[in-house]
Amino acid sequence: MEMNRRELLQKGTRLTIGIAVGNSLLATDATKAFSQSANQPTSKTFPPKFLWGAATAAHQVEGNNVNSDNWLMEYLPHSMYKEPSGDACDHYHLYEQDINMLADLGFNAYRFSIEWARIEPERGYISRAELDHYRRMLEACHRRGLTPLVTYSHFTLPRWFALQGAWENPESADLFARYCEKATAHLGDLISYAATFNEPDIPYLFRWIVLPGAPPDSNLAATMAAHKAELRQQLKAPLFSSFLIGDAEKSRENMMAAHTKGKSAIKSVKSNLPTGLTLAMEDDQPAGPNSRFAEKQADVYGPWLKLARLDDFIGVQTYTRQRIAQKALSPPENAELTQMGYEFYPEALEHTVRYASKETGVPVIVTENGVGTENDARRVEYTQRALAGLKRCIDDGIDVRGYIHWSLLDNFEWIFGYVPKFGLVAVDRETQKRTIKPSAKMLGKIATSNSL
Ligand code: BGC
Repeated sequence: MEMNRRELLQKGTRLTIGIAVGNSLLATDATKAFSQSANQPTSKTFPPKFLWGAATAAHQVEGNNVNSDNWLMEYLPHSMYKEPSGDACDHYHLYEQDINMLADLGFNAYRFSIEWARIEPERGYISRAELDHYRRMLEACHRRGLTPLVTYSHFTLPRWFALQGAWENPESADLFARYCEKATAHLGDLISYAATFNEPDIPYLFRWIVLPGAPPDSNLAATMAAHKAELRQQLKAPLFSSFLIGDAEKSRENMMAAHTKGKSAIKSVKSNLPTGLTLAMEDDQPAGPNSRFAEKQADVYGPWLKLARLDDFIGVQTYTRQRIAQKALSPPENAELTQMGYEFYPEALEHTVRYASKETGVPVIVTENGVGTENDARRVEYTQRALAGLKRCIDDGIDVRGYIHWSLLDNFEWIFGYVPKFGLVAVDRETQKRTIKPSAKMLGKIATSNSL
């Protein structure tokens, strides 16, 4: 039976998005961390000052992000989104209660993103009021002893920026750097870690995905490109583009320049602010005799990992493994699948952390790890097994600075709408009432004791 485009995209994206997503200020402590952990290889205790947190992204929780490209795409008559984001978790208004809840659970860090589409809703117009909103969020974190890790761009873009070609626009790097400079000037004193981008490697990841039933020489990136043509027609906007549908090669070139320029802009305001980026990293494993897994790693992560060598840390974001033959394979027949269709494989985290550390030589922060499931007991097991693997990395001397779980709240999971549940905390979308799940208590306890 022929799938419509939304089903096709959702199926293909499920295979990926869920997978798919030395000169450092911090690196100087690496040797110390090594000798500390080498002395106590069997200890269950994590290094001092280890960051324990949960993450959100503005568009997925705030609600009414009306000046963003995603909002525009969600409300089109032929949208690829299952449902629009609407009020989301109303975190825009309820942030203080959410931050207090995170602190009460025992965590010491909060990763969230600031929304460029709110801060610069029209090209060149910077909203002081919206910057003040994020200042209040940062102040709320500090009041409760939470270290804030801030992402400057978590997928969503200002509508005007998308209408001008998004990351395909040759001006995009300079436009992003200007936003980074303005945001840091207003907020930088309260930010503890800055990431320019969340998972800028995703468009390349798409090139390795063959959709079920599609010809073997096709890939998800090509499907996305076709969708872009449709969107441009619907919007009557010949240049419209967006993060997930952009031309992968042009976008990567511009996003790499944007990272470098954005980082310089951030550092021009606050030179000692640890800055980096986060990568979607699948645990790639060879399958069969002529596996192209090394080629995939070089293609998708290679250039970003090289760039990250110049950063203060690398954010690792891992959900599952991916077995690679000529292309990415579906999970094994008998594998337990998550709500996203990914293989339940928490050991992936250990492997990607080892790989990212080896390739970059800079400290690692796990900025996302988690599982989409209605069954919270599976989240508990997933997290415990992932953390056991992370501890093995630390015991082997790898400089890991923190573990930030995805996600604090059940939230808007992009084209899948509100169906997948990644939250440590459930949200009633009618009343916005939060309900803490056992996994939140389990992880909060680990955070409080800094020990497994
Ligand atoms: C993204 C999140 C997303 C999560 C779960 C990551 O790729 O950064 O925005 O919700 O994966 O799919």
